[in-house]
Amino acid sequence: MSINPVGVSAPALSAASPKAVTRLAGFLSSCASIGAICESSPWLARRIAEAVGGASSPVVELGAGYGSVTAYLPEPTVSIERDTRRYQHLKATFPNRMILNSCAVIILNELQKPTVIVSSIPNVNNLEFGALRAGVTRAVEAGTVKQLISYTYFPVNPFGGIFAKSEMIGFEILNLPPAFVWNYSC
Ligand SMILES: C[S@@+](CC[C@H](N)C(=O)[O-])C[C@H]1O[C@@H](n2cnc3c(N)ncnc32)[C@H](O)[C@@H]1O
Repeated sequence: MSINPVGVSAPALSAASPKAVTRLAGFLSSCASIGAICESSPWLARRIAEAVGGASSPVVELGAGYGSVTAYLPEPTVSIERDTRRYQHLKATFPNRMILNSCAVIILNELQKPTVIVSSIPNVNNLEFGALRAGVTRAVEAGTVKQLISYTYFPVNPFGGIFAKSEMIGFEILNLPPAFVWNYSC
């Protein structure tokens, strides 16, 4: 045991550190993989669901994560999640929903009819965002995406220039970090 200059015993750092470091690494890796500090709050999820409203077209959710937005979307929503662990969690949490373990870009390419898209896929610091944006552009041109709702942590318009109408419809302060909500329609 070491004694510091003020005479107080140092905590048992050698035993505590590896655990704390492992936890911190897990937290940081989780943040990096979901592209956020944590999952969306119920307040943000409600705002997104309100924008979807009583959509008469099919609803497809891209990047469902652990289901924080999924829970607020209409029952027939099809949710897409690429990460296998999160996909399994979603399947267990929403046994009556259609959940697909796939890539959002593939799903966008395969849409057959006009669809409402909810996207939680990060746009800033996501090297793959260009492929997602290109997939949305192709689907809008093909007439298979008629509305898209998404959110950002910065006042940047991620799908600007693709849809006829593009609007920031709200700013949800009760989210970590606070989020801008975007609504696009043809
Ligand atoms: C920021 S999290 C959002 C989770 C949740 N929907 C929320 O709002 O809290 C983004 C999710 O998108 C998933 N994701 C990222 N790129 C994807 C892609 N190309 N196809 C499908 N899922 C993707 C990640 O695995 C992650 O679970």
